[in-house]
Amino acid sequence: MQLIPSILVTGGAGYIGSHTAVSLAKAGFRVVLLDNYSNSDVKAVHGVRSLINADVPFYEVDCRDKDALIDVFRTEQEMGHEIKGVIHFAALKSVGESVENPSLYEDNNIVGTERLLEVMREFDVENLVFSSSCTVYGEPEVVPVDENAPFLEAESPYGFTKQACEKLIVDHLKPNPEFNAVILRYFNPIGAHPSATIGESPNGVPNNLIPYLCQSVAGIRGALQVFGTDYPTPDGSCIRDYLHVMDLAEAHVSALEYLFKDKLRGKDTGWRAYNLGTGKGASVLEVIEAFEKVTGRSVPYSIAERREGDVVAIWANASRAKDELGWEAKRSLEEALNDSWKWQKKRPDSQ
Ligand code: NAD
Ligand code: UD1
Repeated sequence: MQLIPSILVTGGAGYIGSHTAVSLAKAGFRVVLLDNYSNSDVKAVHGVRSLINADVPFYEVDCRDKDALIDVFRTEQEMGHEIKGVIHFAALKSVGESVENPSLYEDNNIVGTERLLEVMREFDVENLVFSSSCTVYGEPEVVPVDENAPFLEAESPYGFTKQACEKLIVDHLKPNPEFNAVILRYFNPIGAHPSATIGESPNGVPNNLIPYLCQSVAGIRGALQVFGTDYPTPDGSCIRDYLHVMDLAEAHVSALEYLFKDKLRGKDTGWRAYNLGTGKGASVLEVIEAFEKVTGRSVPYSIAERREGDVVAIWANASRAKDELGWEAKRSLEEALNDSWKWQKKRPDSQ
């Protein structure tokens, strides 16, 4: 009988976690979801179950609660499904909120990661994939940015928590030589599952460009504000590397397979970081134009002041992920925008 590895997905009811759960199941892994629903709800779990067509286990647990985490690992073990790897998405991610309440972010994101590492050690779980962000690079001096770029001072407490968690993981490896970690630094994930069964559902007014744009076109919000058109870029608006969330989800499958092939075992560090992006930058005005072209809907927008803390231009050199993980983004910006719009149209608040 072939053993199917169980993978714990923390933050599994969230945007990227739910899409990744579907890709993991399609690739033959057994997924176990964990979330405290601080930025999500049970609908995403139902969505994952319906796409996978299976009763995926879900635990409503906060990663800072060590006893509750132990219960999850133990329960799965007692049912004969020892957890073999963890993908750690669970974190708070609103940059603005982190500026207002830095200690909440440090507590939630850093303490949550510490507890998880402790429990993984207790249960001899050796494989971790961690959700990091291109925010660790701050405003890079050279673009496209590669993984050797230095960490500049974090632009926000949120960014600081990502730098700190990366360091925690690397420090954890030193006394635990059997432990292996892949750190994934995401650029700007957008889009939704093409079935529009799951997608991005931010609580309240969205901070990020695509959810705000979609809600604006749907008439739920006022006109989109383009934050600055006086930057030193070809059209004056900021440039980012937008990648389809399904491409991102598939990168996690590649990362786990890489870990399970023992690619990092015995190496002097036991960890490796990878940029995940398309390698192409698009400006805010180009995104608006692409959205209008692919959906046939016009985007109401106005030009506004620059947003504090915004990086001018950043996109990925993702060649390490291609060379070592065998992953590259396949879907276009247009496809991602179309899927975001399909999801928006299907959401109950989109009427
Ligand atoms: P999300 O908010 O949709 O998902 C995160 C999930 O984690 C939510 O469901 C939330 O309820 C849960 N969570 C938060 N704190 C928790 C805790 N202490 N215990 C248990 N569950 C907790 O966000 P997302 O976009 O899916 O992001 C997933 C990860 O990717 C995060 O770590 C985020 O920082 C990182 N990331 C996201 C982006 C992006 O643009 N979306 C970019 C770079 C990195
Ligand atoms: C931000 C965070 C990043 C985090 C990510 C996910 C910063 C500096 N970076 O990325 O660390 O991982 O969110 O939460 O905050 N824009 C508008 N109008 C809007 C919204 C956005 O013009 O209403 C512009 C922004 O100025 C930016 C681009 O759209 O140029 C993308 O913004 P956003 O989606 O918020 O992502 P980032 O700022 O790149």
